[in-house]
Amino acid sequence: LRNGLAATPPMGWNSWNQVGCDGLNEQVVRDAADTLVSTGMRDAGYRYVVVDDCWQDYTRAPDGSLRPNPARFPHGMAALAEYVHQRGLLFGIYAVPGSGTCAMYNSGYPATGIGSLGHERQDAQTFEAWGVDFLKYDWCYADTHDGLDEQAAFAKMRDELQRLARPILYSISEYGAQRPWLWGRAIANMWRTTNDLTPDWSSITDTIEQQAAVTTGSPGAWNDPDMLQVGDGSLTVDEERAHFSIWAILNAPLFSGTKPSASALSTLLNHEVIAVDQDFGGSQGRRLAVTATTDVWGKPLSDGGYALVLLNRGGTPANISAQVGGHWSVRDLWQHKDTGTSDGTVGANVPPHAAVMLRLSPR
Ligand code: DGJ
Repeated sequence: LRNGLAATPPMGWNSWNQVGCDGLNEQVVRDAADTLVSTGMRDAGYRYVVVDDCWQDYTRAPDGSLRPNPARFPHGMAALAEYVHQRGLLFGIYAVPGSGTCAMYNSGYPATGIGSLGHERQDAQTFEAWGVDFLKYDWCYADTHDGLDEQAAFAKMRDELQRLARPILYSISEYGAQRPWLWGRAIANMWRTTNDLTPDWSSITDTIEQQAAVTTGSPGAWNDPDMLQVGDGSLTVDEERAHFSIWAILNAPLFSGTKPSASALSTLLNHEVIAVDQDFGGSQGRRLAVTATTDVWGKPLSDGGYALVLLNRGGTPANISAQVGGHWSVRDLWQHKDTGTSDGTVGANVPPHAAVMLRLSPR
């Protein structure tokens, strides 16, 4: 969407992978903002603090406006947005195009009438008044429950956001069902390409597999293979790094959903990998080669270089190589080391459930 936002893939924190529905409250969000600052994540680019589903009160106010759940957000959303802004961060919120949110239908969140259907203008204005900078607009069965059409429903909220004076980054989610990479760029700044990612290796590799069929994003309009699971669940450090490497080569939005451990932080703060994510050399990463257990992903960089991920999905070490032509200096972005030069082929022995990420610079 050409609204001047998301020139590079958006980065930040989102509540969902960390606390889901039941654990969400204003203290969790404030802590997340403080953590982004104290860990250096804000300065590394993680700027959006996004409150996902279950922030809403169980009903709308008498005037029809959305209001926060008073037990979870006693100081209200404008005060929370201000807290976030005071720390040099941006504030995001969650809404749905139909009549109910996913947590109402999936987790029994006991609310009614808190979807934006029929309230699109009012909700957009409420968000503007609160100081919202980012809207996640989540499908949640708006077809089966409300008979809505994806493109029309998402475009309706886009139009309401564009009437506002405040720039609001627009993130949509219908889980890739209608191949939004083919129509999303006219509607939103980012769109989910797949269903929810879970913190286990098969979810990571299945999601990566699905990205092979997705056409490239571009500045202002990014494919979103879902928020990071770095620091959640039982992924190993190698698995988390492989996950982060592929998201970076895909120019994916990078939203953490964890109070990061030291090892998660060392992954999330790899500035050389983040630099690949934030660099657009004309195309997001695409899969160049695939075997039963390995992938090679590559993408051009804006300095004439090239980024490569050698991914070992399998359970035993694998020698993975790629034909790259040309003359390059090679740098390993997880070892933070220049590893030599190449005149055609690069390769590495990659441990099980791991990736090697290389940056090739012309020489
Ligand atoms: C489904 C989305 O894919 C998740 O990211 C999250 O927003 C939940 N809905 C919230 O109910």
